[in-house]
This record gives sequence, structure tokens and C-alpha cells, in this order.
Amino acid sequence: MDFGGDIGLWQRKIAEGLEGTSRRLAVFEALAISSGQAVLDLGCGGGHLVRDIALAVGDSGRVVGLDASKEQITAARSLCADITVAELIEGDSTNLPFENASFDCLASIQMLEYVPDVDAAISEARRVLKPGSKAALISVLWDHWRFHGAEPELNDKMHEVFREHCFHQMLPMEIPTKLKLAGFDGIVQKPIAFMNNTMHENAFSLWAAKLVAAFAVGKSVDEKEAALWLDQLETADTEGRFGFVSVPVLTTAIATSR
Ligand SMILES: C[S@@+](CC[C@H](N)C(=O)[O-])C[C@H]1O[C@@H](n2cnc3c(N)ncnc32)[C@H](O)[C@@H]1O
Repeated sequence: MDFGGDIGLWQRKIAEGLEGTSRRLAVFEALAISSGQAVLDLGCGGGHLVRDIALAVGDSGRVVGLDASKEQITAARSLCADITVAELIEGDSTNLPFENASFDCLASIQMLEYVPDVDAAISEARRVLKPGSKAALISVLWDHWRFHGAEPELNDKMHEVFREHCFHQMLPMEIPTKLKLAGFDGIVQKPIAFMNNTMHENAFSLWAAKLVAAFAVGKSVDEKEAALWLDQLETADTEGRFGFVSVPVLTTAIATSR
């Protein structure tokens, strides 16, 4: 999926909102970041986690946010403009521009499922981590990512089209084996599922619905159908029968000394 234009804007709204914040908190706590550390955020988006980490590592630390989207990196640079230890780099997670063993820990929130060669990205993550350091990775169980309240046939169609937005629908189920093969150990997984029963500007569901509709138009969905689906969700919300469920999974792993 291209994270430019409105899609990038709505993705950053998600990151700023309650559920985006709680995902960052989960990663932040899992990594137990301390002052002076060097931290890498892969697929940093609008730089919200980079900013949080920069404030924790302080002037003696280093935080690098890397993202494949020029627009996301521009937004991240603007968000982190006052932070000297933050470096924002446009790049590909399968070919990292860093020396071996450069970082004390690594974060990646909902990025790996968008990478066709996800094994290459995991192998690069391992290469740039110091042995014994920790990675905290969040990916979503997309088979269970679902809006409720629209007419079932159209709702199914919208979800089916949205499957195309990423390459790996159920990465959390596959990632422990991939991490072991790449030189990680001590793998622990924790679901951080959430439900929205309404749509508002601080809820994941509002921005995600707009994003699904925009993505679907021009595939097997036309503008009228996408608008109808959004209307049906709004009506369901007004009538108190709206729902949205997502199951992101936090996976933590330790880089082995090989
Ligand atoms: C859903 S957004 C998540 C952004 C951020 N981690 C957050 O939680 O707000 C996914 C991000 O991954 C980036 N991305 C996708 N493929 C990538 C790749 N191969 N290398 C680096 N970044 C990538 C996208 O540009 C996008 O900004």
C-alpha cells in the first residue's frame, strides 16, 4: 500500500489516537529503553515512536526512524524537528544503511506485513542489532480485522478487497519460526486486541474506515459502493450497533550471539 496522500494522513491520525498510542506504549515497555541507548524504529511512519524514544534516550542516545515513504519521513522530520538525537531516513527495511551491531534495541510497529520479502527484513534487523539486544515487533492478525454494522454482503466485499493492502495476513503466526531462523531467541508473544464500539476522531475505527474505502475504490469496488459502506457504518454507529475489532500481536525476541 502507498502511504502517501490521504492514506498516509489517516495512518498518522491512527498513530496519534488512543489505540496507536497504546501500541507504542506496549513496545516502549517491552524494550525497557534507557538513557544513552541506540534504537532503530523500522517503518517509523510519522515518527511518533521516534519522538517518544528520543525523549527517553536523551542527548547521549541515538534514535533512527526508517521508512520507505518519502511523505511519512517528511511528516516524521516535522514532528521531530526540535529533537537533535532523532535521525529520519527514507529507506527499505530489507537493505538497511547501517553497520552490523549498531543498535541496542529495535522496534517495528505494523510494518513487516507490508514487506514482500519479510525474511530479508528480519535478517537485516538481526544484522544491525548487537547480540543480546531486544526487538519488539507488532503485526496484525488481518484475518480477524473486521468492521461490523454494514450490510453483510458489501461488508464482506470491502474486507476482501482490503486483503490486498498487505502481503502477509497472519504474520504473527509465522514470525516465531522466521525469527529463530534469522538468529533470534527468547521469543514471547502477547496479543493487544482492542474493540471500538463507536467512531470518533480519537478512535482507530474512524480513520481505518476512511482508509479502507479509499484503498478499495478503483479495485473491484466503485466510489458509490465505498461511500455506501461508509454511510452504513455511520448509520450503525448512530443506531448503537457499530463495531470494529483488531488483534495486533506484540512479539519480542532477543538477538543471539550466533
Ligand atoms: C501502518 S504504517 C505504521 C507506521 C508506524 N510504525 C506507526 O505505528 O504509526 C506502515 C509503515 O511501514 C512503511 N513501510 C512499508 N514497507 C516498508 C519497507 N519495506 N521498508 C520501510 N518501511 C516500510 C510504510 O511506508 C508505512 O509508513
